[in-house]
Amino acid sequence: MVGGDGNQGKLWGGRFAKHTDAAVEAFTASIGFDRRLAEDDLAGSLAHVAMLGRQGIIGAPEAEAIRQGLLGLREDLRQGRLTFSDGDEDIHMNLERLLVERVGPVGGMLHTARSRNDQVALDLHLYLRREACRTLRLLHSVMQALLTQAEQTRDVIIPGYTHLQRAQPVLMAHHWLAYFWMFNRDAGRLRDALVRMDCMPLGAGALAGTTFPVDPWQVAEELGFSAIYDNSLDAVADRDFVVEFEAAAALIMVHASRLCEELVLWSSHEFGLVELDDAFATGSSMMPQKKNPDVAELIRGKSGRVAGHLLAFIMTLKGLPLAYNRDLQEDKEGLFDTVDTLQSALPLLGDMVRTLTVRRERARAMVAEDYSAATDLADYLVRRGLPFRQAHAVVGALVLHLSRQGRLLADVTLDDLREASDLFGSDALDAIRPESVVAARRNLSGTAPNSVASQLERARRFLTPQKPNCYAEWEPDL
Ligand code: ARG
Repeated sequence: MVGGDGNQGKLWGGRFAKHTDAAVEAFTASIGFDRRLAEDDLAGSLAHVAMLGRQGIIGAPEAEAIRQGLLGLREDLRQGRLTFSDGDEDIHMNLERLLVERVGPVGGMLHTARSRNDQVALDLHLYLRREACRTLRLLHSVMQALLTQAEQTRDVIIPGYTHLQRAQPVLMAHHWLAYFWMFNRDAGRLRDALVRMDCMPLGAGALAGTTFPVDPWQVAEELGFSAIYDNSLDAVADRDFVVEFEAAAALIMVHASRLCEELVLWSSHEFGLVELDDAFATGSSMMPQKKNPDVAELIRGKSGRVAGHLLAFIMTLKGLPLAYNRDLQEDKEGLFDTVDTLQSALPLLGDMVRTLTVRRERARAMVAEDYSAATDLADYLVRRGLPFRQAHAVVGALVLHLSRQGRLLADVTLDDLREASDLFGSDALDAIRPESVVAARRNLSGTAPNSVASQLERARRFLTPQKPNCYAEWEPDL
């Protein structure tokens, strides 16, 4: 007896005597969002059916008929000719129904030795492997833009801050490069995630494996995976590869958000350090003078949702018993939105950095108008034998004295210095010029021009070759 008609002809309808409640159908359906996995689902099915045929699990003519059907579906998908239905719940059942409609009952053999549980895990591995690579590339172009700005601002001195209070001057190049290295570590995290994601789950079946003589290595090889899962329960139950990507994505967005916050500040009238290109700013509907950094603000704003997706899904996972649970369907929307957000934000961030104009005179004026060479005066006294703590107190008193008179460190005279300490010589005046202050920090990670030049050299090496070495032969044409 053939079931199925007890439940509107659902693929799993055999065991049911009643129709699914419409609200249940709507609540459980994932086709609205997992249609995005269609290409990967077809790729997985093509590899699976080829293996079934080679292993003699199904006949060669049947395998070939299914293969042709899948290729036809793929062509129709690419031409936008496939329509999916909510009644078929998810992308896997939609495609299976379309296959059977196309090739007849033989299409029903495709699901031999496979469950939607290992199928969806495979689809997600395929999807994320590609999108993580794409994201990595976009990250590289942001890093490239930062590198280009750094090359162009090796001679621009800006105030450096702690607590958003003037601290010590730094080269603007040094500032851009700080973000370069953050993104470089993010790229490393993505590559790490890719290494572990490179694992093929098929063969797990629903949870315990399969009674058929499958060869998962054939599937892995065809799809370009270099490993297969050792444990079927693990293969269908975990989504740590999704979490790892989302965690890397959250950090990328945190770094992007901090950079954007600086662009918002720097493009303000008060800072005036940079001007954003007109193409990457927007106006006000009321105030004609406005040029707003909305792109930077939105990237900063969108960092919240990406971090939120990580948190939401990690909470979903934490209480799940082995193996597959429907809760796992919640992996997708947050992941897709994470990918979309990153892939729209990163190119804009790169372009915004690349096209902004640095206001050099403003930078020059800024570093002349504060006390940020004070540490260097203290260091000067230390070199003359004064313990640092005492030197700190002497210079602190000098700054207090000057500020009470409304004078800056740039206005200080040799007499002022000598009054503060007789250890000061005339070379102290030279030591507090912004150029000297910057040049004095010549340790490897310091902001001196020579140190920054060698830092740039090291940074450049990370961007060549353009192809990060995580890319294997399966690397798609992106
Ligand atoms: N749509 C499901 C998901 O995304 C596919 C797997 C469903 N498996 C099941 N036994 N209901 O997780």
